[in-house]
Amino acid sequence: MSSLPQPPPAIEMKPGVSVTARFSLLIACLAIILALQYPLFLSYFQRLTSSGPVVTGVGVDRSKVLAALSGLSQYKIKANAALHKKKREYNKLPSQQKLHLLQSLKYYTKISQATAAANTNDRVAKAVRDFGMRYYNISSLELHAYEKTRGRASGDHTQVVQALKHFVRDWSSAGEHERSATFPPILTTMKTLFPNQLREGRQTRVLVPGAGLGRLAYELAAQGFDVVANEFSPYMTLAHRYILSLHQENPIAKIDGHTFHPNINWWSHHRSNESMLRAATFPEVLPQRDVLNRLRLIEGDFVKAFLPLEESGFDAVVTLFFIDTARNIVDYLETIHKVLKPGGIWANLGPLLYGTAPLIELSLDEVLRVAEKIGFELLPVDEKWGDDTFPDVEEWKGKIKGNLAGYSWDQESLSRNAYQAQFWVGRKKD
Ligand SMILES: C[S@@+](CC[C@H](N)C(=O)[O-])C[C@H]1O[C@@H](n2cnc3c(N)ncnc32)[C@H](O)[C@@H]1O
Ligand SMILES: *[C@@H]1O[C@H](CO)[C@@H](O)[C@H](O)[C@H]1NC(C)=O
Ligand SMILES: *[C@@H]1O[C@H](CO)[C@@H](O)[C@H](O)[C@H]1NC(C)=O
Repeated sequence: MSSLPQPPPAIEMKPGVSVTARFSLLIACLAIILALQYPLFLSYFQRLTSSGPVVTGVGVDRSKVLAALSGLSQYKIKANAALHKKKREYNKLPSQQKLHLLQSLKYYTKISQATAAANTNDRVAKAVRDFGMRYYNISSLELHAYEKTRGRASGDHTQVVQALKHFVRDWSSAGEHERSATFPPILTTMKTLFPNQLREGRQTRVLVPGAGLGRLAYELAAQGFDVVANEFSPYMTLAHRYILSLHQENPIAKIDGHTFHPNINWWSHHRSNESMLRAATFPEVLPQRDVLNRLRLIEGDFVKAFLPLEESGFDAVVTLFFIDTARNIVDYLETIHKVLKPGGIWANLGPLLYGTAPLIELSLDEVLRVAEKIGFELLPVDEKWGDDTFPDVEEWKGKIKGNLAGYSWDQESLSRNAYQAQFWVGRKKD
C-alpha cells in the first residue's frame, strides 16, 4: 500500500474573519471550482467510484452526444428524402417505360414499401434517441436548441444508419453468421487461458476497445470476466446503451421485440425486392442482470481514456475488427501493451482495412514486428481457428490464423464481401 498523498497546507486565515464568512467563502470557491472543473470533477468521481483501473481523461462530450441524438431524430427525414429522390429519378423515365414498369414490376410501390420500412426503422431510431436523452439527462429543449444552432448539419445520417445496422451484427439471429465466424476463437481461447475467473481473489479484468454494440464484451462478461467495453462514437454508444437497457427486468424488453429493415438504405446487389425489404428482429437474447453487473461501458478515445494507468491494469485486452481503425496503429499497440499487466493477454481478430486518415499503413508482418518490438510474445493458437498465414515463417508458424469473416454484410446479397480476418494471441512479456 502506498501512503496517502499529503493534504495541501491549509490556507491561513486572518484572525477576526467570522466562521460564517469563512464558510461562505469556502462554498463560493467550491462552486466556482466546480463550475470550471465540472468535466474533470466527473472523471475524478468516476475514478473514485470505479472498482477497475484508474481511468482519467474520460468525459462525455455533450455536443457529440447531441449531434448523435439529432442524427437519430432526423432518421426519418433523411431516409425519406433519399427514397423521394428515387421517385423523382424514376419519374424522369419516358412514360412508355414507366407504364411498363408500373404494370410488370410495381417499382413505384417498391419505393413506397421501402418508405414504410424506413418508418419502422425510425421507431427504433426514436427509441434509441429517447433512451439516450433520459440516460444523459438531455431535455427536448436542449436538443432543439442544439439543432437550431446547427441546422440540418447537426447529425450524420450515414453514421446513424451504420450504428443501427450493428443491431443485426451483434444482437439479431440474422447476424449469427458474422458472430459465429469471429466469436468462437476469442471466447474459447480466453476460457482456455483463464480457466479460473478468480485470480488472487478477484475477477479477471478484460478490456474491449472499439466495442461497437458490445455483444462480444457482453459474452465475455457472461463467461465470468469483469469487462470494460470502450467506444468513442456516440452513435455506437447510444445504441449500445439502449440494447443493454433491454435487460430481463425491463418490462418493455422482449426477445425479438424490435423489428428493423437493415437493407433498405442500399439498393445494389439485391436478389429480389422481398430480400431487400425483409425485416430482422432483435434482441435475440435479453441481457441478464448478473452479467451486466460485470460489464461497464467507458466512453472516449481508447488511446486517451486509459492513461495514465496504475500498475495493476487489465489481465486481457480483446480487439475485434479494431486495430485498423487507428490513425496511428503504433499508438494502439503501445496502449494495449501499457494497459495490460505483465503477462497479460492480447487477443486480436480482424482485418487490416485502414480507415480514418491513417498516418501509417502497415502490412500484417509489419504490425506483428512492431508488436514484438513493443514487448509482445506471440502464442501458438489452436489450428482449428483458421489457415496459417505464415506457414513459411518459422517464428510465426501456427500463431497467426486467417479466417473468412463478413462485416455488416447481408447474407442474401449478390455481393460477396468478406475479410480474411487474422487471429492471434500475444502475451505481454514480464
Ligand atoms: C469496425 S468497428 C468494430 C466494432 C466491434 N468491435 C465489432 O466487431 O462489431 C470499430 C469500432 O471502433 C470504434 N473506434 C474507432 N477508433 C476508436 C478509438 N480511438 N477509441 C475507441 N473506439 C474507437 C469505432 O467507433 C467503431 O465502433
Ligand atoms: C416484389 O416481387 C414479387 C415477386 O417477384 C412481385 O410479385 C411483387 O409484385 C413485387 N412487389 C413490388 C412492390 O415490387
Ligand atoms: C442524470 O441525472 C441523474 C439524476 O440526477 C443522475 O443520477 C445521473 O448520473 C445523470 N446521468 C448522467 C449521464 O449524467
